[in-house]
Amino acid sequence: MFVFCRLNFYAIEMTDWKKNIDLNRLPKHIAIIMDGNGRWAKQQGHLRVFGHENGVKSVRDITEGCVELGVKNLTLYAFSTENWSRPKEEVDFLMSLLITTLKGEIDTFNKNGIRLHAIGNLKSLPAKCYDELHDTMEKTKTNKRLNLILALSYSSYWEITEATKQIALDFKNNKIKEEEITPDLISKHLNTAPFPNPELMIRTSGEHRLSNYLLWQLAYAEFYFTDVLWPDFRKPHLADAIYDFQNRERRFGKTSEQIAAEQTQ
Ligand code: IPE
Ligand code: IPE
Ligand code: MG
Repeated sequence: MFVFCRLNFYAIEMTDWKKNIDLNRLPKHIAIIMDGNGRWAKQQGHLRVFGHENGVKSVRDITEGCVELGVKNLTLYAFSTENWSRPKEEVDFLMSLLITTLKGEIDTFNKNGIRLHAIGNLKSLPAKCYDELHDTMEKTKTNKRLNLILALSYSSYWEITEATKQIALDFKNNKIKEEEITPDLISKHLNTAPFPNPELMIRTSGEHRLSNYLLWQLAYAEFYFTDVLWPDFRKPHLADAIYDFQNRERRFGKTSEQIAAEQTQ
């Protein structure tokens, strides 16, 4: 009887992971820095790549969690411009993991209404990755429940530099005037132009830095840091982050009193 009750209790815990979240006040866009794969593997006496392999399970769980909740946009930092400096074997492993994962997920994406997007210097990816990515984006392009945005070979320095070059060119060719260069125009030249700015940024593994991630887009995001390593990160951890987000006061430069007055209007 005791054993039965315990199992029953766990079953409730598992299914009720979103019980504390207000589904009417979800962040419109969540951005995650999936960090700690290597340390997770090392802790268990394995090679770093074992951590990357297990990190895919977290990607699946968190993506599914966002669909269940109704979060509309999820950006995952999968590979940074700086990550090209890692040992070649690790880079090669990550690139082939990307291909096999994408191949294996298309049906799940389509079943769950997930549309895949990618941001970053995609042309720098190996041709096989680039092709697989395009194929998956094409095959999921009519899905509407969740935009899953992979940041691949991405860095804000790269993205902002590219946007600046494009704006400079348009200016030189008399396509835009100086006074038309506004924050809105800059946003429109970034890879993230189709999506709203992230409202919540989560970084796992206890590191407190942005590592060149969405520097412009995160200007007013709430940051949530957790010591949990990415391969251990699951829906209840996502729920903790969203709960924390929902209990913050977002002031956007105003005073607390102004925000309170706006809410009673
Ligand atoms: C994040 O985990 C995955 C990528 C950067 C591709 P790490 O590989 O950075 O893991 P740690 O930080 O070394 O533990
Ligand atoms: C950031 O993690 C990039 C990704 C998660 C893809 P890193 O592990 O590469 O970041 P740093 O080098 O520790 O800042
Ligand atoms: Mg790391």
